[in-house]
Amino acid sequence: MRGYLVAGNWKMNGSNAANAELVDGIIAGMPQSDSVELLVCPPFPYLAAMAAKLSGTGIALGAQNVSQHEAGAYTGETAPSMLGDVGCKYVIVGHSERRAIMGESSETVAAKFQAAQDAGLIPLLCVGESQQQRETNQTEAVIDEQLNAVVDGSGIEAFRRAVIAYEPVWAIGTGLTATPQQAQDVHRHIREVLAARHQDVAATVKILYGGSVKGDNAAGLFGKPDIDGGLIGGASLKSADFLAIAEAAWALN
Ligand code: PGA
Repeated sequence: MRGYLVAGNWKMNGSNAANAELVDGIIAGMPQSDSVELLVCPPFPYLAAMAAKLSGTGIALGAQNVSQHEAGAYTGETAPSMLGDVGCKYVIVGHSERRAIMGESSETVAAKFQAAQDAGLIPLLCVGESQQQRETNQTEAVIDEQLNAVVDGSGIEAFRRAVIAYEPVWAIGTGLTATPQQAQDVHRHIREVLAARHQDVAATVKILYGGSVKGDNAAGLFGKPDIDGGLIGGASLKSADFLAIAEAAWALN
């Protein structure tokens, strides 16, 4: 059984006070379940403080980005080993905002994925198509290119220590969620692409859905056979909203 992962991508939001309130609320209302893992991904400046606060709670810590380089003259960058050092278990790589706004190519994302794994982190690889790509029937081609760049670079076995998030760009922060069936179709496709290389890896890797997941649509999405949880943006910034989503996963266990 793959179990569920419910991950909060806080993006560039928060403050010491707001983060403490948010995490205190999650801890207070956390569902008691072994097979639903909760993860929060705060901005870099707050990682160390959050690691201390989350210690012993069972909530995992992740970063939103990482350098593909190990150390050296890369002003403003953060090495994978540093993330491990301050208590991160996960790191998001290839979020569509970084691909689109920061110009990260699939090659760069693949290098970050590998660097993260080399440092013992679990990469959470985001893939997804834009609205225009969906309308012109390029969804699978786009996903294949983003996924295969990583599979070719790191090998299929690397997905034993990785998580994938399918995040249609048109659903991120827009309030437009993919229907459970639209999401399931792409999740199944991702699993088929991986299964062509290794059946067992494809069957065991967690694939999260992201894009306007809320408490009232989470159960429908998480109920689909190939959806193993969510990567949550806006609704991860209020503890009640995040918990409502986590509870949907808990109820489906
Ligand atoms: P959203 O963001 O839940 O606000 O749509 C999801 C994401 O970008 O990971």
